[in-house]
Order: sequence, then structure tokens, then C-alpha cells
Amino acid sequence: MTELFAHWLHITQDLNSALIRKDRFDTLLTTIREVLCCDASALLLYENQTFIPLAINGLSHDVLGRRFALAQHPRLEAIARAGDIVRFPANSDLPDPYDGLIPNRDSKLQVHSCIGLPLLVDDQLIGAITIDAFDENQFDGLLNHDLRLISALAAGGLQTALLLEQLETQANVTHEALTERRTFSDKIISRSAAMQTLQQQIDAVANTELSVLITGETGVGKELVANALHQRSARASKPLVYLNCAALPESVAESELFGHIKGAFTGAISDRKGKFEQADNGTLFLDEVGELSLELQAKLLRALQFGDIQRVGDDRHIQVNTRIIAATNRVLYEEVTAGRFRADLYHRLSVFPLHVPPLRERDDDVVLLAGFFAEQMKAKFHLSSIRLSASLLQKLTQYAWPGNVRELEHAIKRASVLAKSRTQSRDLELTLQDFDLFTSDEKAVSATHKQQKKESIEVPTLGLRAETENLQKRMISDALSQNHGNWAATARQLDIDGGNLHRLAKRLSLK
Ligand SMILES: Nc1ncnc2c1ncn2[C@@H]1O[C@H](COP(=O)(O)OP(=O)(O)OP(=O)(O)O)[C@@H](O)[C@H]1O
Ligand SMILES: [Mg+2]
Repeated sequence: MTELFAHWLHITQDLNSALIRKDRFDTLLTTIREVLCCDASALLLYENQTFIPLAINGLSHDVLGRRFALAQHPRLEAIARAGDIVRFPANSDLPDPYDGLIPNRDSKLQVHSCIGLPLLVDDQLIGAITIDAFDENQFDGLLNHDLRLISALAAGGLQTALLLEQLETQANVTHEALTERRTFSDKIISRSAAMQTLQQQIDAVANTELSVLITGETGVGKELVANALHQRSARASKPLVYLNCAALPESVAESELFGHIKGAFTGAISDRKGKFEQADNGTLFLDEVGELSLELQAKLLRALQFGDIQRVGDDRHIQVNTRIIAATNRVLYEEVTAGRFRADLYHRLSVFPLHVPPLRERDDDVVLLAGFFAEQMKAKFHLSSIRLSASLLQKLTQYAWPGNVRELEHAIKRASVLAKSRTQSRDLELTLQDFDLFTSDEKAVSATHKQQKKESIEVPTLGLRAETENLQKRMISDALSQNHGNWAATARQLDIDGGNLHRLAKRLSLK
């Protein structure tokens, strides 16, 4: 154990000098692993009845995206409840949360040694460390007394790392704010550099009164970002009111936004608050704001300029203190140039623009998100394990995900259903054949090859230009219907740039 103290002398220093949070947690876990000689280990944060992996070793990379709810993981629940180290018997029948998640092992973690160290600060559980070894006697030589010491030191280390992180992300941090840690549970799974930058921007702007415009392709997580902004603001205890501007029929739009009084129009049988008033002292999230009509844009602008609104049918002005967060997957300044969106409203909404990067620019977030969604399916189907093979994870990372996180979520869910239908076992392994993403391209390519071989080219009757355009039209429409109307996926399948496809489709009168 003197070795332990030698290590520990360095760790506070390492924690302080590690630049990013990931390094701090990794440093902490590495120290523990070196001292305890285990095959797999994890440093977990405890929050809202859930353990969230912060650093892992010897486990499949997608574990970092998984969330372990106590209710579904009796082994972790035992650790959370114990208040002391827990040694699980080698033949314990409590399922191990890492079943199937240790690379190159059978899906079942058969007889093995497993110890859980709860991390407590002032008697509050803040996290845990789990250590696993394949040799059932591996940990026999470890004394409880020493393990408790490690727990205590690690708890201090974790607390320091979390506080350091908070000091960095919140510029004007107050003492009260420090005791109330930023929660990890707003469910934005993100480790990539691009998303870390976004997280910092969210932290910077959340607790201001500024309007935020969230932009990004479809399915990147704009709604999650809007939620995080509200949750991390001083308005968190007040309502976050959602309004989808795309699904707002013109006839009721004004009343939806600003409310109405009894008798204002046929059917207005009583006074009714609009979304602006419902969100008083809270936040109003205007989703798909690019779809608002010019008329409503003018009314919205007025409300933002003067901070007051008028219910339909009422002359009186009502003061509201509503913070606006808006989102769109359109490039809004292009809409302004095209005359479809008011420039003045654009400037008011985008006081603080936040761009959510597409999934293809987020390095290994794909792996984490795949783990996150797989773990959800595991709970939903009451499985013992659901694993993603290394080759599958590699393929998932290479794919471009035109529909972003939503497409990945659906792909994992669909694959889980397919994999489950193949077996009675409660241990699932998702493989490439459960995903149609990669094969559809290959199929399309081989189909074209086949066709090319079969058909000899006919002499054009309409002239080369018209025939070529007809062929282009046919190919685009076919690809578009194969991709369920998704233009980005169509562009990928046809191997042409998205912008060029739009222009071409317009020229061919397909749009
Ligand atoms: N970082 C993330 N971590 C976990 N889940 C995510 C993440 N990003 C997106 N999701 C999930 O992906 C789905 C799509 O996200 P969301 O609805 O926020 O996208 P969006 O940008 O608003 O899309 P659209 O432009 O089509 O409205 C949701 O189920 C959401 O929970
Ligand atoms: Mg959305």
C-alpha cells in the first residue's frame, strides 16, 4: 500500500494540471487501477438514482455513453445503499452491469471477482468505483481497511475534479452555486471537442436573459439544447413552454402566442392565456421559428421589443417577462436574404447564436450515443446484456448520419428489435446485418452495375439533353422515395453534394 500513497502524492497535482475534465477523471481511475490490479474498472458519478460513467478501463468504449439506473441494476443499487465497500461473492447471481461489455470475452461475465467502492462526501453518495477481475481470487489479498482508504481518497479526488470543472464553466460562480453541481442528467451525451465547446457556450449563456437562436441540421439535438439552456438558467423552476411554429395553423397562431379574451372570435368561449403569458418568468421555446409567417413575425417582433403583449380581442397591454429560445434547421440568414424572414427579428432572436454540430463532426460521440440508446433498449426489453461488436462500432463511426442523432437512435432501436427477433437469449449482440444503412448503398451500387450490364444504350429519341434530364429526374425521384423524402440521404446515395442536388432538383422542376 505504500505504493498507493506514492501514487496519491501526485494525483492532486495531476488533477489540477489536467486541462480537460476527461483527463482528470482518467487520471483518477488510472491511479486506482494501478494500485488494485484489476481487469476492468469504472469511475461512476451518482446523480438522480443513476450512475454515469466518467472514466472506464478494460470496458467497451460505448460504456461511456450508457446510463445505469439503480432500479435496473441491483449490483449498483447494492453499492449505492451499502455506505461501505461491497465485495460480491464470485458466484453472485446479481447481474453485472458490464455483462457483454468486456471486449473479447463471452457475453456473460461468469464467475469473477467484483468490488464496489462507494464514494461519499459528508455522508452523501457522489459516485462509485467498480473493479472487476476474471480470477475469482484476484482481490483476496486486498484488505478492507485499505479499500476504505482508497474510497475516501478517490471521493476527495472526484469532488475536487467536479469543483474545478464548475469553476471553469461558470465565470461568476457564487458559493451557493458551487454546492449545487451542474447536473449531468440533462441527457446530452457528448465528449467530442465540438460538443464540449457547445456545452461551454450553453453554460456561458444559460444564466443570462439573452435570446438564443439554436441552429443545426435535423436531428442534431436542438431541442435537448433548448432544455439544457432552461434547466441551467435561473428560470429553471419556472415553466419551459414549447411552441412548434411549423405546426401552427395561421387562423389560431396569434391566439396561441398571445392568448384571447372571451368572445374575441367564434369559439372563444372564455379568456385564455397564450404561450407568452404561460411562459411568464420562464422560457418560451419557439421551435422551427423559420416557418413563422411574415405577419406573425411582425407581431412577435413587437412583443420582443416592448416586452408586452395583447390578447386577441383585448386593447390592454400585458407586461410579460419571458425569455425566448428559438430553433431552426433552416439557414436563417439565407431566409432573410430571400425575403422570407425579417432581418430585424433575426437580429433580435440571434443575440446569442448556438450552432449544434452535425453528428459526422463529433468523432467518437457516435459510439457513446450508440451505447446510450442500446442501454435504453436493454431496459425496455428486460435483457441481461446488449452488446455492440467492435466492427459494428467502427462501421457506425464511418457512416455519415445525414439524419444525425435521431437517425442513429432509430437505427439502434430498429436493430435491437431485429436482433431480438432472431434469438430467445436475453443476451443480444447487434451486428452489421441488423442495420440497413450500409447495405442499402452497396445494394444500390450492385443493382446499377447489374442494369448496366444488361441494357444496351438506346439511341435517344428526344435528343441527348432531354433524355439525360429525364434519366436524372427518374434517378432522383427513385432515390428520394427510397430515402423516404430525405434529401440529404438522397444526395449521399447519389454521391452528389447536397446543395448541387437541390439546385438540380429545382432546375428539373422536382421541387
Ligand atoms: N447528445 C445527445 N444525447 C442524447 N440524445 C440525443 C442527443 N442529441 C439528440 N438526441 C436525441 O435525438 C433525437 C433528436 O433530437 P432533437 O429532437 O433534439 O433534434 P432536433 O435538432 O430538434 O431535430 P429537428 O430539427 O428535426 O427538430 C431525440 O430523441 C433526442 O433525445
Ligand atoms: Mg426539433
